[in-house]
Amino acid sequence: MDKEGVRERIQKLRREIDELRYRYHVLNDPKATDEVYDSLTRELKKLEVSWPELQRPDSPTQRVGGKALKKFEKIAHRAPMLSLTDAFDEAELRAWDERNRKLVPKGAAFEYFAELKVDGFAVSLVYEKGILQVGATRGDGRVGEDVTQNLKTVRAIPLKLREAEGPIEKITGRKLSSGAFARRLEVRGEVYMTKAAFAKVNREQRKTGEPIYANPRNLAAGSIRQLDPAVAASRELDFLAYDLVTDLGQERHDQKHAILWALGFKTVQPEARCETLEAVLKFREKVRTLRPRLAFGIDGIVVSVNQNDLYERLGVAGKAPRAAVAFKFPGKEVTTVVEDIVVQVGRTGILTPVALLRPVEVGGVTVSRATLHNEDEIARLGIKVGDTVVIQRAGDVIPDIMRVLPKLRPRRARAFRMPRQCPICGSRVVRVAGEAAHRCTNKNCAALAAQRIEHFASRRAFDIVGLGPETVELLMNHKFVRDPADLFALTAGDLASLERFAETSAQKLIASIQARKKLPLARFLYALSIPQVGEETAIDLAEHFGSLERAMGVSVEELKRVRDVGPKVAAAIHDWFGAERNRELVQKLLQAGVQIEKPKQGRQPLRGRVFVFTGGLETLSRDEAKEKIRALGGDVSGAVSKETDYVVVGSDPGSKYEQAKELGVPMIDEGQFLKLISK
Ligand code: IVH
Repeated sequence: MDKEGVRERIQKLRREIDELRYRYHVLNDPKATDEVYDSLTRELKKLEVSWPELQRPDSPTQRVGGKALKKFEKIAHRAPMLSLTDAFDEAELRAWDERNRKLVPKGAAFEYFAELKVDGFAVSLVYEKGILQVGATRGDGRVGEDVTQNLKTVRAIPLKLREAEGPIEKITGRKLSSGAFARRLEVRGEVYMTKAAFAKVNREQRKTGEPIYANPRNLAAGSIRQLDPAVAASRELDFLAYDLVTDLGQERHDQKHAILWALGFKTVQPEARCETLEAVLKFREKVRTLRPRLAFGIDGIVVSVNQNDLYERLGVAGKAPRAAVAFKFPGKEVTTVVEDIVVQVGRTGILTPVALLRPVEVGGVTVSRATLHNEDEIARLGIKVGDTVVIQRAGDVIPDIMRVLPKLRPRRARAFRMPRQCPICGSRVVRVAGEAAHRCTNKNCAALAAQRIEHFASRRAFDIVGLGPETVELLMNHKFVRDPADLFALTAGDLASLERFAETSAQKLIASIQARKKLPLARFLYALSIPQVGEETAIDLAEHFGSLERAMGVSVEELKRVRDVGPKVAAAIHDWFGAERNRELVQKLLQAGVQIEKPKQGRQPLRGRVFVFTGGLETLSRDEAKEKIRALGGDVSGAVSKETDYVVVGSDPGSKYEQAKELGVPMIDEGQFLKLISK
């Protein structure tokens, strides 16, 4: 065959293989046997090996075969990947509906759209010119991880979208000015595993004596978050699309689903347009009876305002859109016995009663503890030690004690009382006025200090590897560490004097502590355990104030001007920075050598510029190069697209070089790059 002949054969094979895949994995209507599929794929592979210049990233042979990665690149989501608020019963759903009705402008007609809530792992897929470029995890909602290699192994995910202008225009009734594939197209959905595929994996695990996986959701998520794509490829993962982020003329959510289907995705079925709340409730009933017969797990339904413009107008509260709600099914129930009730002291000094349970399996995991939240909750349940209780676990959430079975109460059942003294430090415990919580009054309570240090070291804060609760306790008991700043003064010698530490693990821990001295302001603020300041608020504060000095010195009024900061949060932050000991802690950290990276607000000559690297650099590491770009306001992406401003080409460049050439993206070498960042 000459090259033209090969090209034609390759094209035909690709089309046919993809069609078979589509029939099997999306339409669920296989037209050929696995043998035929495999045989055609083998022929294609052979041709591509002999004619590498005819290889393309969307070829069906490109689903598996990538090498294991060292780590995942970060991907910033153009639009945040939000989560949903839960409603557990009709009353909560009605409350949600009533709020919507108040917020929707008078006279605006709207309806709801109801669909299944698949119990899987959310991902975002970005297509350029109809070809899958990047697949990313949700991450913290703003920044996820580039798991493209793994997602490509999922056969229900098209590597190439179906030609679909005509069908799309029919759905929306609008002309697509530039064609669907002319632009970057973003689709979101859920990677999941069917009940059957999950059972199969666990059967194998049992056979080989390996640990049993708790549930399909975790297994699906774990498979996608593996650095080696061979793992994901070995699992039968599936994909359902539920959101089209890109505007292709759709006015309603149901049109999004129709378009996704036309583009070649499997969409969530069944679905329903509901004019009234009653219709929503009816849909849920239908789903409830259907649920045992579904091939995959669901944990409820998602109800959204169907009119996209209203959906947008209703906006976001916290991390969730107001216009949608997860209407959950109640979880699985089992009974067990409360063997004891103990009290835990948390990071902010709050005492939480915890029931120690006779271990019991519920929804696939063994449960031996359940939080009782606070004194009022204990009173509401009327619970005593020795009681038989009903516990419930919904989805992946921590189990809840639902009720007591009083007839099974033994005579020796013991009532529980909140301690008057902190179980850790013995100081007085008070109930906070106006709240249900009890709190230890000792600001130096060891429990608080330990938890603050653990939080300080946690992944999203200083990310110190190897500093778990036991190590913190050990270090505190030996008085090596009293507050987070003491960590930086630790030496390998200190640790070596402790029994538990081998020399290598001591050195590793010290190295990990010292390696984390430099970090962005948001992480630093988050790490401090300021009451009311979670990750989101820390990011907002950092963006607003730009420097630690400013954030520390401002009034409550100024704090209230920060996005999403209300009077309560503002007061908490102000109080915290007002306290002498906290200011001392901050000073001590800075003196210990902690450095806050320059926020992206100063001089930002590279603002909005997106860089992609391919190949090795001579004078600096990739991480250093990336840091430089970010410090100057630029962004680094893991994949080349039309939005890329520069591809930095090092030695031995990879496929990104070809892609850049194809897309006409400007390419620069290391020398030009260095000049650019030193300008
Ligand atoms: S819509 C604003 N639709 O549930 C978020 N989510 O609790 C838009 N999920 O992160 C989500 N099935 O991982 C939507 N049909 C469905 C879904 C669904 C499952 C997951 C998704 C999301 C989480 C929110």
